Amino acid sequence: ATSRNIEGAGSAKQQLSRLVKESLDSLFPDEVQPIVAACQAKFGDYQCNNAMVIWSQLKGKTTQFKNPSSIGQAIAKNLPESEMIESSSVAGPGFVNIKFSNKWISKHIQNMLVNGIEQWAPILSVRKAVVDFSSPNIAKEMHVGHLRSTIMGDTLARMLEFSNVEVLRRNHVGDWGTQFGMLIEYLFEQFPNWEDAGDQAIGDLQAFYKASKKKFDDDPDFKTRAQQAVVKLQSGEDKYRHAWQNICEISRKEFDLVYQRLKVQLEEKGESFYNPYIRGILEEFERNNLIKESEGARVVEIDGYDIPLIVVKKDGGYNYASTDLACLWYRLTEEKAEWIIYITDVGQQQHFDMFFSAARLIGWLPASKDAYPKASHVGLGLVLGSDGKRFRTRSSEVVRLVELLDEAKNRSKAELIKRLEDNGKITDWTDAELESTAEAVGYGAIKYADLKNNRLTNYTFSFDQMLNDKGNTAVYLLYAHARICSIINKSSKDIEEFKKASTCMSWKINTGIGKIVLDHVDERALGLHLIQFAEIVEEACSNLLPNVLCEYLYNLSEMFTRFYTSCQVIGSEQQESRLLLCEATAIVMRKCFLLLGITPVYRI
Ligand code: ARG
Repeated sequence: ATSRNIEGAGSAKQQLSRLVKESLDSLFPDEVQPIVAACQAKFGDYQCNNAMVIWSQLKGKTTQFKNPSSIGQAIAKNLPESEMIESSSVAGPGFVNIKFSNKWISKHIQNMLVNGIEQWAPILSVRKAVVDFSSPNIAKEMHVGHLRSTIMGDTLARMLEFSNVEVLRRNHVGDWGTQFGMLIEYLFEQFPNWEDAGDQAIGDLQAFYKASKKKFDDDPDFKTRAQQAVVKLQSGEDKYRHAWQNICEISRKEFDLVYQRLKVQLEEKGESFYNPYIRGILEEFERNNLIKESEGARVVEIDGYDIPLIVVKKDGGYNYASTDLACLWYRLTEEKAEWIIYITDVGQQQHFDMFFSAARLIGWLPASKDAYPKASHVGLGLVLGSDGKRFRTRSSEVVRLVELLDEAKNRSKAELIKRLEDNGKITDWTDAELESTAEAVGYGAIKYADLKNNRLTNYTFSFDQMLNDKGNTAVYLLYAHARICSIINKSSKDIEEFKKASTCMSWKINTGIGKIVLDHVDERALGLHLIQFAEIVEEACSNLLPNVLCEYLYNLSEMFTRFYTSCQVIGSEQQESRLLLCEATAIVMRKCFLLLGITPVYRI
């Protein structure tokens, strides 16, 4: 854990909650959890909303308080002495409005500038989590739904990692199942020399899949051989294993092209990995009398569903659900994860609901859905094309995600070159710089366009919108960050030194040359917003909603603009303080980008 040399640990909200808790503890014998939230500026900075709830419990049983307002008064009066709180007041039926002191806000920001943004990592109640994301299927297309899962999963993993949670990033690829019989048999038939040809034999794996599926459907002899091939593969026969590995390897290379471009780290543990555990866990279900026979299949009945969860198919084979049960068991017992997060399209919600329920029945997961260890399904809406239908690139049947990513990059490169030519700066840029900026902007645009929406809503994929340099887009935000860098630069700082960020100006604070003063309303508003970073990350993690962080980032850039419009920085009397605010803003923006998987840009 990181050390914190400020009075309290955790977000501003957590620190304030502790003060409120002290007050509540001094007033009420029964434990009361503080209810604290940021509030509208006209009331204060934060509000404590406990009074009404407490009143509803004490009404008629107390003479100490005569109404909710008097409870609010008492909470306010008993708040411990602290540098954090400047004033408190009670409004309406006991709302305690709290205003932070400017001095504390400044100190909180200076602490971050000196000791790094890690100081602002939220404190979460889990230590180890699995994030199961991306998870495409071998030999089938990796489609935009998988892209959305890849982007979302990477962000959630990054936010949890920043919050000091150990994260196992898992790619649960579909690498097992009856389709491999047909693929292997087709490989043997079409490419007798496949072992010498390696990956070259198959070429386009998706076309290969289609062709073998057609043969499977049309040719009964082939179908029989394919079914036998599954048995041979599952019993571990060398030649079949080898062919299977070969096919998986081709898909893997294709998937990796996407992960490399997006700089996404993932560890593959596919469905096949959990296959050996299925028999054992199903025996446990049998012993607990949780499995029944239904139309030839073995099933677990789940309350609230008309259909049962099939765990052994009629033909005796295991399926998606039995694999996921074994996998969940493995993650809980072998890997000791406290929180297991699955990211897929929302269409799979019922599958997750059902096998989570099965795990509750057998006692792997606690009865309460909020208790740990916990399993969460993060459902995603669809990605739509401009025609309002499921998104497809071009008219071709397969979506080549790599081509999609390349197009974003090429478009952003063309825009960048045009912009630089227009303002006569193109000669200052090396090719390598153009490339890396175009990548950051292009891939960043795709990620941000996806993440800024509530994950459950469908969103329309549009290059024109996401690459617009105005509005709530990555392009706008990346450029806003670059402009702040250039402001700081103009104050004669070397950009390389600035990139080292968190310590760049800290010597000024440490030596007392620099100190943040929040006199102007727009300075204070910006300062308050900055210190709310930790609780926003906390909220985004707890509710698995990265769009909350996007909204925070966009608001931050707007507040910065307001500050910069009304407060002169360079050449003003407050130059040092204001430059520190610029730097703090740039650092927080940069951290937001990194958490969203977006590479920051330093100049435009
Ligand atoms: N392979 C699945 C698909 O493409 C997603 C797997 C998600 N993870 C899981 N443990 N079921 O839809």
